[in-house]
Amino acid sequence: MSTMSVRDDASVVQRIFDHIDNRTTDLSAETWREPVENYRSAERFAAERELVLRRYPTPFCPSAALPESGSYIARDAVGTPILAVRGADGRARAFRNACRHRGTQFAAGAGCEKAFVCRYHGWTYGLDGALRHVPHEYGFPGLDKSARGLVPLATAEVAGMVFVTQDAPSPPDASLDQLPPIISPQHRLLQSAELEVPVNWKIFAEGFLEGYHIRSTHTETFYPVQFDNLNVIDTFGRNHRIAFPYRAVNKLRTMAPADWSVDGKLTYVYHLFPNVMIATFPANIFMTVLDPVAVDRTVLVTYILTTRGPDDVEAQTTIKRGGDFVTIGAAEDREVVCAIQRALASGANEFFEFGRFEGLIGHFHRELDAALEFGKSRPPARPDGTPSR
Ligand code: FES
Ligand SMILES: [Fe+2]
Repeated sequence: MSTMSVRDDASVVQRIFDHIDNRTTDLSAETWREPVENYRSAERFAAERELVLRRYPTPFCPSAALPESGSYIARDAVGTPILAVRGADGRARAFRNACRHRGTQFAAGAGCEKAFVCRYHGWTYGLDGALRHVPHEYGFPGLDKSARGLVPLATAEVAGMVFVTQDAPSPPDASLDQLPPIISPQHRLLQSAELEVPVNWKIFAEGFLEGYHIRSTHTETFYPVQFDNLNVIDTFGRNHRIAFPYRAVNKLRTMAPADWSVDGKLTYVYHLFPNVMIATFPANIFMTVLDPVAVDRTVLVTYILTTRGPDDVEAQTTIKRGGDFVTIGAAEDREVVCAIQRALASGANEFFEFGRFEGLIGHFHRELDAALEFGKSRPPARPDGTPSR
């Protein structure tokens, strides 16, 4: 059984100091070769979506995106329109965003509502999904409204995020128990954005999981403030956390370990299997969902959160400066990963080789292979146990 814990901040800092002093970094035991075909094959992509991405509890949005009763987020996830909404009882729920009359989406974007009125013919649903009103109901003799509520999806609120599972059965290792605290309840949503990029979702994910590219790719951005190829990695269950220290971490050397704070001293990137990344920065957190829309296209859904108040002028300056910086660094990452995609069909490589600095990527592919095997052995069903198609 793999552990769900990550090491504490002081242990991470101590390990960073050891790596700085010894010019080392965390290494995996083995290298990994991933066939290029696995990034190109339509069959493989369909299996990943149906047998893995829709089968795991996956962060849909941060809890902070649903701050009050009626707050909602509606967007597609892995090809399915989904609504997440906070009920009058404070619970976050998710539903298939398809009207029970003729299937149109009854909610779009984000906002706050007391009820959802379908724009096509006006069927109206409560925040709990119940079908409340059907205009001219006499046209549907015998309609049992209690049986035509919105179709619910398994939903859990853990570690500051709303997790949604689209199809059952989830693999046995899909438990959310003991997930470390990642986003604190004090966070609020600053902004969200969507961007489509012409790249396979796994190639994009790989870019978050190693620091071996810092000096070459981020020469003018991250490298001057960070280190090249100096990371502390943790694996918890099927998930990962990688620490990217800033050079400012050395300031902690004069302080007692009990007083060490990693805020402003490193970025943690959490990878929640299979497709969500959460990166911590001074004064804010970026949560990015890599939503795979085609074998060669991914929509990046990003939520930016902060604990700082709108009147905290210093924090606003830090957020603005940090945001500009991260935007440039992220563009550098997009450039290299999209370049990989363009040459996938060239035949130059039959496999990509991930070295011992890139061990989390090997772990990711191992977990994905295992999840695919489980999926093939157990046909998908709705979370309530009924067949999904
Ligand atoms: S499709 Fe929604 S009311 Fe007709
Ligand atoms: Fe990068």
